[in-house]
Amino acid sequence: MLTFPEGFLWSTSTAAYQIEGGWNVDGKGLSIWDTYTRRNGKIKDGTDGDVACDSYHRYMDDIKVMKEIGVNSYRFSISWPRIMPDGTGRVNQAGLDYYRRLVDALRENDIEPLITLFHWDLPQTLQDKGGWLNRDVTDYFADYVHLTVDALKDQVTRWLTINEINIHACCGHMNGEHAPGFKDDIVGLQVFHNLLLAHGKGVIAGRSASPGGKFGYAPNLDYFYAADSSVQAQAERDFAMAKGNGWVADPVFLGKYPADVWKLYEEQGVAPRVLNGDLKIISQPIDFLGVNFYFANFLGEKPADAGKTDWHALYYPKGLTDLLVWISERYASPEMVITESGCPELVETEPLSTIHDTFRVNYLRDYIKAVHEAIQKGAKVKGYSLWSLLDNMEWQQGYTLRFGIVQVDFKTFERKLKDSARYYSKVVKANAWTE
Ligand code: GCO
Repeated sequence: MLTFPEGFLWSTSTAAYQIEGGWNVDGKGLSIWDTYTRRNGKIKDGTDGDVACDSYHRYMDDIKVMKEIGVNSYRFSISWPRIMPDGTGRVNQAGLDYYRRLVDALRENDIEPLITLFHWDLPQTLQDKGGWLNRDVTDYFADYVHLTVDALKDQVTRWLTINEINIHACCGHMNGEHAPGFKDDIVGLQVFHNLLLAHGKGVIAGRSASPGGKFGYAPNLDYFYAADSSVQAQAERDFAMAKGNGWVADPVFLGKYPADVWKLYEEQGVAPRVLNGDLKIISQPIDFLGVNFYFANFLGEKPADAGKTDWHALYYPKGLTDLLVWISERYASPEMVITESGCPELVETEPLSTIHDTFRVNYLRDYIKAVHEAIQKGAKVKGYSLWSLLDNMEWQQGYTLRFGIVQVDFKTFERKLKDSARYYSKVVKANAWTE
């Protein structure tokens, strides 16, 4: 048995668009995902999140399975257009009431809410005004954060401003795979910068509403291994780390963009416009870093002990340990919570969604052990929130990939624990890694 520190957060993650449904009820405004999924050919199986897991109506069912698993925390996101249908101005009380019911019910069940304020579902009205390319949107975001934190702060301590700034900038604005569907590096890198700015403004706004709150953000962070031990290969690897991780984390922790990557983007004519004072706002101190981890990358040959791959991740738990240690070294040991770690069932070996998800059981066993090892090595990891509680709407992949430790029957909406949920339950109840 490998025991975790006392008070460790054991959690499961979801995101509003992927699970809530209720896309047009009780005064909710449209988000860019509501409109994007209506464009032909964007989603692999032609589906959308109109109903998804229907968590808007069935959140008590979600809480029931969480209770059964025994987690002490739940990471979910708030839909901005549910609270502010136009993104700014008018407030939709029914939307706020929904999240009030949710956080109250979580607390009654001894589950601590960990809230993401933006998980990609921008109000469409704001997209019509230029979306994240428009700097005004960073101020609207701050207003929305202030309002929301103020409304829920009596029950919520931990807040994440923005989920995966880097993925939203890249997939949404550079490769066109996600809403709003741009394919333009100049747009993408400017949006990237504006999202960082929105994060900084969000932290300031959140703190002013709740001085006792803990604020962070959740970038997607990868780990890269050098091709060999030559100086050249090491330099290439450091550059890959700076581009992949430094670009999204250096501005927040170090108050600057990595110089070598900046130089490259400048040469390519795609570097963002950064105004005086932006980096000061972006580098507001945060209380914890959310780490979303899926990828270990090998710049050379893949080692023999790297496990199965699918489109989404390479099975290499050591990558997570190494990443957590790298973050601790580069950013002076910030407090961290793993805010995402998980896998879809491996499609070649298992059906789409099965109760007996052996691949995922092994995955969790190895990755949770990897977190423990990082803690042994001094990384200040305070929690682990796996992706995902439920089978849900996996963005452009629709329902063709299932990440849940709980199976959802999309006709009856019945939730059923998979083997991975039972394994996870053993770990969280013991607060210890177990075989
Ligand atoms: C992500 C998103 C999740 C995904 C998960 C699996 O952070 O990419 O937060 O919404 O569903 O990562 O792809």
